Amino acid sequence: MKIKFLGHACFLLDDGAHKVLTDPFLTGNGLAAAKAEEVEADFLFVTHGHSDHTGDAAEIAKRTGAPVCCMVDLADAVFGPAGLSVMVGNIGGRIPTAFGSAKMVSAIHGSGVPGGLACGFVFDMGGKRIYHAGDTALTSDMAFLAEENIDVALLPIGDLFTMGPKDALRAVEMIKPKLVIPMHYNTFPPITQDADAFVEQVRKLGVEAHALKPGEELEV
Ligand code: NI
Ligand code: MN
Repeated sequence: MKIKFLGHACFLLDDGAHKVLTDPFLTGNGLAAAKAEEVEADFLFVTHGHSDHTGDAAEIAKRTGAPVCCMVDLADAVFGPAGLSVMVGNIGGRIPTAFGSAKMVSAIHGSGVPGGLACGFVFDMGGKRIYHAGDTALTSDMAFLAEENIDVALLPIGDLFTMGPKDALRAVEMIKPKLVIPMHYNTFPPITQDADAFVEQVRKLGVEAHALKPGEELEV
């Protein structure tokens, strides 16, 4: 399994046969490591309807034919009316896919669409279990994830709109993943964080962590 960080909350997960692209905010992101018109994707996963997460999803879906996988309310409000192929579910449910599956888990955050909820995803892909938290506050629901044996946790640390480093550290203690990759920081001045300091703190808990630079890839 390869995990490539493209900036903000955008990751390219590649099991060698399928490419999953999450929250593709590339256009307008000065730190993005890919261009919307070039990035590859077989599946798009969008955690919620804020523009720094929906980003270029519609354009990429149109070009690649990749389905947009998201909460049913977001699909009904945005991607369905745009004429795109969607795969939907709701919190607690698992979307079966050609690469494995993605379970939709709770995130404490606005959804960007009236009446909707934001979510995180737990991907079963390439023999690994990868948790993309989306935008979220620290929540006791994360304790349930300890039972899921998470291999990799992608956690926001930017503060202001999501949990900051201190709460993200408590999230790590609850989730007990094997590896942590921070996200959702430094994209804009108000969410500037010292990711290396966070990584050091996570390692003190006995958990491996890497702060990937946009464009950097990790094999897990
Ligand atoms: Ni958001
Ligand atoms: Mn966000």
